[in-house]
Amino acid sequence: MKIDQSGVLAVSQTKLSLYYKNVTADVIGPEHGITKQQFDELAQKTRPAIAECNRQRKNGAIPYRDLPYHKQYPSQVKHVAADIKPGCENFVVLGIGGSALGNIALQTALNPYMYNLDEKQRKGPRLFVFDNVDPAQFGSFLDWIADKLDKTVFNVISKSGRTAETAAQFLIIRQILIEKLGTDGYRRQVVATTDARSGTMRKIADEDKLRTLIVPDGVGGRFSVLSPVGLLSAAVCGIDIDALLEGARAMDEKVSREDFFANPAAVNAAVNWHYYHRGKRISVMMPYAYGLKDLSDWYRQLWAESLGKSCDLKGSKVFVGPTPVKALGTTDQHSQVQLYREGPNDKLFTFLQVSEFQPDIVIGPQPAAAPELAYLAGQKMSKLLNSEKLATEYALLYDKRPCMTILFDRIDADAIGQFIYLYEVTTSIAGLLFGIDAYNQPAVELGKEATFALMGQAEYADLAEKIKPVAQVDTAYLV
Ligand code: PA5
Repeated sequence: MKIDQSGVLAVSQTKLSLYYKNVTADVIGPEHGITKQQFDELAQKTRPAIAECNRQRKNGAIPYRDLPYHKQYPSQVKHVAADIKPGCENFVVLGIGGSALGNIALQTALNPYMYNLDEKQRKGPRLFVFDNVDPAQFGSFLDWIADKLDKTVFNVISKSGRTAETAAQFLIIRQILIEKLGTDGYRRQVVATTDARSGTMRKIADEDKLRTLIVPDGVGGRFSVLSPVGLLSAAVCGIDIDALLEGARAMDEKVSREDFFANPAAVNAAVNWHYYHRGKRISVMMPYAYGLKDLSDWYRQLWAESLGKSCDLKGSKVFVGPTPVKALGTTDQHSQVQLYREGPNDKLFTFLQVSEFQPDIVIGPQPAAAPELAYLAGQKMSKLLNSEKLATEYALLYDKRPCMTILFDRIDADAIGQFIYLYEVTTSIAGLLFGIDAYNQPAVELGKEATFALMGQAEYADLAEKIKPVAQVDTAYLV
């Protein structure tokens, strides 16, 4: 138990650590591994970035770092969750990008696989997260939900309210709810999570008198999972959000350390930065736990949108950004590992490994006809999973591919809170090492504006003209 700087109790029951021996030259040789001297140079390069990240946090420039200490947000979330839960059988998140990926990741990690289907395994309503505008997918859901609307709560999450996908989903649901349940019913079944003061969704929420939760000022979507954006669906579905925040606070102490070798975010960022500049520009995250698979989706957005930038902080063209790739062990051993071992040595691998699974399962006895399966009989499934992780890592190291591992004691809210905070701060430090702004996403804008133009929004008429040559199919190139 620790009291941190702001006097909040940080209790971490579950261990989560970064293991980086298998990127060293001692293990994979000096051509692909990092030598002791290079590590010392990385420490020297990264120390100012750690200090700068801490300074930015102190100045209030990166408010995501204070989310684990916020008292009001979790208390508002719990209040809304308690209000919603009675009679709520389905909870539906409408959002995209940072307004969806964290919700999905928390649910997959912290609730059972059969949560939606098995009432005995559920501690709350079924959860659905829609982060797309595929009419076939959404139409099938609307058919299913049609006679359950009064038992369904929709949480529309959009800081701006102008995001086309979320806005379109919301307009469809709004119309259905008003038609079927009337205005009061519509109000009862919707919670809007949005900006406190401005934006399209705020205007609608105020006008329609909807219940609201806040997307905190200065917290970008991909850094918002520990705010009401990610906490409401988690709390409604029975996830211990206090433990999640406790885990994040415990990790905060580690990732604030100025001592490079004691700071897992600094080591993680520095190793990634080092390899990016040595031809390994692909960063593969490979959990060996189904529950962690959507955290690699969450990581993919965090890493790609934060670090993929054309200009550095001085405005010079740099075109940087490691490419995040997600894989799942053992599934992708039978899909990707051939490439990972024998293809170009251009990747850094980060495995996620779990010691204790709940539940664990013992493999049955071998049939008399198959003595070759005797080695499996009576063994724990978790032993097989973790042996396959080690086996894959061994095979990759044999071919001099650098590997790191995030070791989880077990998957619980505390550990997931630690993991989220570790990767958020890793991203901030990596942004400083690359010399770019990790918190904007200017390249996403043109695509959004082109969508507005193609959908006929008047103020984008000029852009619509420019798009025409791309939109028209040139039959000379059809085969
Ligand atoms: O990380 C981000 O900032 C984005 O992924 C946003 O979360 C996403 O574009 C959705 O934006 P909004 O919340 O305004 O609908």
